[in-house]
Amino acid sequence: MLKRIAPLLLAACLRSTAQQADVLYDEAKVPKFTLPDVFALRSGERMRDAKSWSSRRRPEILALYETEVFGKSPAKPAKLNFEVKAVEKGALGGKADRKIVTVYFGSTRGGPKMDLLIYLPAGAQKAVPVFLGLSFSGIHTVANDAGVPLAPRWVRGVQEPSPESSRGSAAQQWQVEKILAAGYGLATVDYNDIEPDFVGAMKHGIRPLFFKPGQTEPAADEWGAIAAWAWAASRAMDYLETDKEVDAQHVALFGHSRLGKTALWAGAQDTRFSIVIANESGEGGAAISRRNFGERTKDLNAHFPHWFDGNFKKYSAREDEMPFDSHMLLSLIAPRGLYVASAEDDRWSDPRGEFLGAANASPVWKLFSRKGIETMEMPPLHQPVGEHVRYHIRAGKHDVTAYDWEQYLKFAAAEWRR
Ligand code: GCU
Repeated sequence: MLKRIAPLLLAACLRSTAQQADVLYDEAKVPKFTLPDVFALRSGERMRDAKSWSSRRRPEILALYETEVFGKSPAKPAKLNFEVKAVEKGALGGKADRKIVTVYFGSTRGGPKMDLLIYLPAGAQKAVPVFLGLSFSGIHTVANDAGVPLAPRWVRGVQEPSPESSRGSAAQQWQVEKILAAGYGLATVDYNDIEPDFVGAMKHGIRPLFFKPGQTEPAADEWGAIAAWAWAASRAMDYLETDKEVDAQHVALFGHSRLGKTALWAGAQDTRFSIVIANESGEGGAAISRRNFGERTKDLNAHFPHWFDGNFKKYSAREDEMPFDSHMLLSLIAPRGLYVASAEDDRWSDPRGEFLGAANASPVWKLFSRKGIETMEMPPLHQPVGEHVRYHIRAGKHDVTAYDWEQYLKFAAAEWRR
């Protein structure tokens, strides 16, 4: 427990504090609600085929999420600056080839940068599909690999060196050996490289790089931290597209919890991600907000005001006034592969709400003649449902486990063989 890193400790504290407060955990008290129609334009006209949905309704939904929820992000920089280093054949006891690639966000190598840690199956003969994921802590926590330098960490708003004991401390959540054994690679970035995750940390991250002269805060419809993390996931993809060892047509974007919300927003905007996986992404992610179950918009806005944009603040405890709900965010992934997952004890994230988000998004896949989830009945534990939209709930707490990764690997194998 002591080894757990600061952001997770903070999240755990907030979880339990909020859970003691007035939180709805009684299914019988979930209000009746009607979801906004994923097919109907704001004018009321309903889209009935994939082409018109894609060209007319999809941009409306994207614009709603952009202005009202996550905030607008800058375009891709004209020039990206990558530096490939720490290349090692036969890392992880011979199982992997590893490299670290630094992505510089500014025009010089002096400003903010992120380090992408990439493991590929050792000696792969052709370009391999890759899982890309942002992580909560330094790249050295992803696997027990003495060759990865110890990245610094943030403790109570101050950056300090990480202890050697933190090496591999998140390995359970990444399951790199399983990923490699399935023939895939893993690329990870510490989200703190992009913007550390606390109120007031914006100055340490990339957002100020894009301010207009004299600007000190993002406007109400400009990016919050989640959008900044998502934007950087696309910059990681920019690099992967240049790497001949990577099959960039087959990149799955994975994220857990707040980084699951991030993966959804990145995948919504950037259709280069062929699969998007949201592990226990909860409120502001896959969960239907109108259920009011577990975490609510007011909790997000109170505890994590830096995650979303200014406009999102007006929806605190006003979920029923939102011209969108999570099924619409999820629909933006169609017709690509979408995996939504929950954990039984993670009531704060509202497992049923996450399922219903995925189930109510699924009709959009049908427009593309692809099967999503074809039932509104939540499956039992450990019985994944759905085809190109898949969902599972497993026993246990808010976490990423070997079971979760086993399902994602099966899903990727099925998606990528089609
Ligand atoms: C908190 C927060 C959630 C978030 C989670 C996490 O619990 O309330 O919205 O998903 O942290 O990222 O771990």
